[in-house]
Amino acid sequence: MTDRETMRVFIDCDPGIDDAVALAYLAARPEVEIVGVGTVFGNNTVAVTTDNALRLLELYGRPNVPVAMGAERPLVQAPRLAEHVHGGNGLGDVALPEPVGSPVAESSAELLVRLARENPGGLDVLAVGPLTNLAIALGLEPRLPELVRRLVVMGGAVEVPGNVGSHTEANIVNDPEAAEAVFAAGFDLDLVALDITMRTVATSEWLDRLKGVPGERAQRTSAFLDFYADFYKGIFGSRQCAMHDPLAAAVLIDPYLVTESFEVPIRVELNGSLTRGMTVADRRPRPSADQRRAARVVTSVSEDEFLKLMLDSLR
Ligand code: BDR
Ligand code: CA
Repeated sequence: MTDRETMRVFIDCDPGIDDAVALAYLAARPEVEIVGVGTVFGNNTVAVTTDNALRLLELYGRPNVPVAMGAERPLVQAPRLAEHVHGGNGLGDVALPEPVGSPVAESSAELLVRLARENPGGLDVLAVGPLTNLAIALGLEPRLPELVRRLVVMGGAVEVPGNVGSHTEANIVNDPEAAEAVFAAGFDLDLVALDITMRTVATSEWLDRLKGVPGERAQRTSAFLDFYADFYKGIFGSRQCAMHDPLAAAVLIDPYLVTESFEVPIRVELNGSLTRGMTVADRRPRPSADQRRAARVVTSVSEDEFLKLMLDSLR
């Protein structure tokens, strides 16, 4: 892709501190047209994540992007939020100004389906929350995997421990039925799972550099990340944080950052008493018994370049 080629991107998210940084990453790039943002329960209620999406798009200079409110609960189970990770307001308890805009009348799934039909083969989708809206969209438009050019999902723990349960990652375990429907649908799909996101961290040096960047975007984001880094200190033992959603954004718009991946069909465990919500990878040599379209699981990225781009996006 040349620098000037415009990418049309739909983002489905649950902001969320790392969702916020993903929005900043995409909003900073002139070649990226954010055609819509859908919201979903997850890190907080959908009312809060929708309000946050509006505030963040205004903060990051894209106030005219349509924001569509999505699902308030998973397809089957009860919702579970993550205030301990993202703060009571989903943004590290940092208050942003009241949004000027308001959500559009369409739901997230309806907006995604309309945009995909209007841009057949020309829309890329970034999904960084529970996959409920995408599953609903598949119900509205079963041809969605053919209409969408590429889908990048942040979610799952393929060959590493989970972050909610021993085998389960938040976005997938928060709606396993929806995730299974998305992995079964046949999208051209990159999976940015904990396998890579727990190894691609904003270090304390990076966080300090961000603190030194002047301007509203950097300073507010730095304040969100202070809360996030406090949570991650309990996991990593030092001040640093996993940048799950911005890494997925980078894999979407800067695919050259990916230096290693493997292709494998992904299924979601729906029944296990210990493993419900686990992403199960069939790594038997192909052709295997599993004929499901394989996802590309990212296992290595150019970390220094990613951290540089992420900092640039906040300047
Ligand atoms: C994912 O869960 C959410 O808490 C984050 O925003 C990210 O999308 C990481 O497991
Ligand atoms: Ca998220």
